[in-house]
Amino acid sequence: MLENRLDVNNLSHAFIKANGEEIRIFQNLEFSVGPAEIVAIVGRSGAGKSTLFNLISGLLSPSAGNISLGRRDDGSPGSIAYMLQKDLLLPWRTILENAVLGIELQRPVTEADRSRARTRLARYGLESVANAYPQALSGGMKQRVALTRTLLANPTVVLLDEPFSALDYETRLMLENDVISLTRSEGTSVILVTHDIDEAIAMSHRIVVLGGRPAKITSEQHITLTVEGSNGERDAITARGAPEFPVYHKEIWSALRASDVAHAGV
Ligand SMILES: Nc1ncnc2c1ncn2[C@@H]1O[C@H](COP(=O)(O)OP(=O)(O)OP(=O)(O)O)[C@@H](O)[C@H]1O
Ligand SMILES: [Mg+2]
Repeated sequence: MLENRLDVNNLSHAFIKANGEEIRIFQNLEFSVGPAEIVAIVGRSGAGKSTLFNLISGLLSPSAGNISLGRRDDGSPGSIAYMLQKDLLLPWRTILENAVLGIELQRPVTEADRSRARTRLARYGLESVANAYPQALSGGMKQRVALTRTLLANPTVVLLDEPFSALDYETRLMLENDVISLTRSEGTSVILVTHDIDEAIAMSHRIVVLGGRPAKITSEQHITLTVEGSNGERDAITARGAPEFPVYHKEIWSALRASDVAHAGV
């Protein structure tokens, strides 16, 4: 059996408020992601989605429980890349230097890395600004640089926290496709937090609804779409035209509403 790329076991976490009151965000949460799997996490604002990412990435240490990363196919250790909800570029670095930052945090940057970075930036129409500084770019352009930086580091697990919310529709579909094809070509696993149900269905193999306090997985839905052409493999557009799409949309929507009701009752 293939090893999971990420296992979260028995995870508990609490924040202590200034008045000493404890807010329990998670209690005994169980969650796993398989190789090349895209899992979307949806849930109301404040449910704990970003906190879960902060725990998985190691920015926060859990009060209790285990988070383990699976190995690569060749047996070497896996690694995580995290694109934060409000990912910032460093203003004193050029776009190209920002793009290779994720690599630089792991090892020295090579010319081959810079060339891969340029190719990716070119795909997003950002070749001409590779040597410019972030203040010259629009919000959407900065977001694309942040995604480039995340994907260039060759991670086994990618955490994307509402990565496309600032983008126009066309760019959004293009980046969704990039993420889908990344899982296919590299076997990378992706966890995506989004408030957009269409995006969650179009991109994911599985959608997890997070709700309640402490938060738990209130619903889990596997997504199988029948798409035309391209060997039946989905992309961001064909997925949206699949006959199952509206059915999943309705199911996720009511699961989200049910999780809100569960929260209001706590
Ligand atoms: N450092 C902190 N100290 C105290 N409470 C915090 C801290 N970080 C987050 N929280 C609280 O934990 C809860 C979960 O926050 P989190 O940011 O994970 O939610 P979210 O699901 O990502 O929401 P959104 O969809 O708005 O991004 C919220 O009630 C928030 O106020
Ligand atoms: Mg958040």
